[in-house]
Amino acid sequence: MGKVKMILDCDTGHDDAIALMLAASHPDIDLLGVTVVAGNQILERTLNNTLNVCDHLGLDVPVYRGMPLPLVREQFTAGNVHGESGLDGPVFGPRTKEAEKESAVSYIIKTLMKSDGDITLVPVGPLTNIAVAMRMEPNIIPKIKSICMMGGAYGTGNMTPSAEFNIYADPEAAYVVFNSGVPITMMGLDLTNQALATMDIIERMEAIGNKAGKLFGDMMRFTLISQKECFDLDAGPVHDVTAVAYLVAPEIFRMKSMFVEVDINRGPCYGRTVCDTIGNSGKTPNARVGIGLDLEKFWDLVEENLRRLD
Ligand code: BDR
Ligand code: CA
Repeated sequence: MGKVKMILDCDTGHDDAIALMLAASHPDIDLLGVTVVAGNQILERTLNNTLNVCDHLGLDVPVYRGMPLPLVREQFTAGNVHGESGLDGPVFGPRTKEAEKESAVSYIIKTLMKSDGDITLVPVGPLTNIAVAMRMEPNIIPKIKSICMMGGAYGTGNMTPSAEFNIYADPEAAYVVFNSGVPITMMGLDLTNQALATMDIIERMEAIGNKAGKLFGDMMRFTLISQKECFDLDAGPVHDVTAVAYLVAPEIFRMKSMFVEVDINRGPCYGRTVCDTIGNSGKTPNARVGIGLDLEKFWDLVEENLRRLD
């Protein structure tokens, strides 16, 4: 099997940063580019965070500035979870890396159009960049090998009882993506809330003794506090990491095919991924949804990868 060619689309907060670390350094991944979107914080901050992480760890990957606002709804950020900067906790030195001149949407379109249909999109933030690219150049749709994303839930949401943050922050964009016909792998909260970094995991990663392990610790120590305050959780879920991990170690995940539809009605279920878990919609599944993971193997994968970094 060749390397997995991917574009990571993120709104760099804490778990996005760990997903970026994995995507940029795993030997079975060819990370072509990183496109940034507003989400956890406003775009200038998520972009700054992405560039800081790359600079800090010497990750040599082009970074593109994406959409600053959702398609239709008013902007909604997650400062309560990720802090004012969107990546509170670690302290970075002055940065030298800059974003590319080309926009994220143009980069996604150009890269897909000249590809052989072998690129996987990995969105781990609101789906605005992907939806705009699909609307601007629908010919990219058959060129996308698959979309492996973090977002949604078949159970309870984290922003409202119905909706998960990435979908809630741009439900109309998610609607476009789920209706595109591209094969989707969805890592929703039901799965990602199982990928919990507890204090012993944090200490294990810090004990590696390199910059990457320290960065993991500085980020997740902040996350432990914010998850307690926001969700009364005693550990920090590394949601976004699961989408990248699935592409290199699918065997550690349990998946189920489902028909998934995004509710864009402005009622109590706005932004809900309505998942047909038992097949009673009669509709052909359009997504493979994560339901379980081997946690021990997951953390081994993360640790092994942090060791590869600076
Ligand atoms: C998702 O929302 C963000 O806060 C995280 O980075 C993750 O992508 C979890 O709901
Ligand atoms: Ca994210």
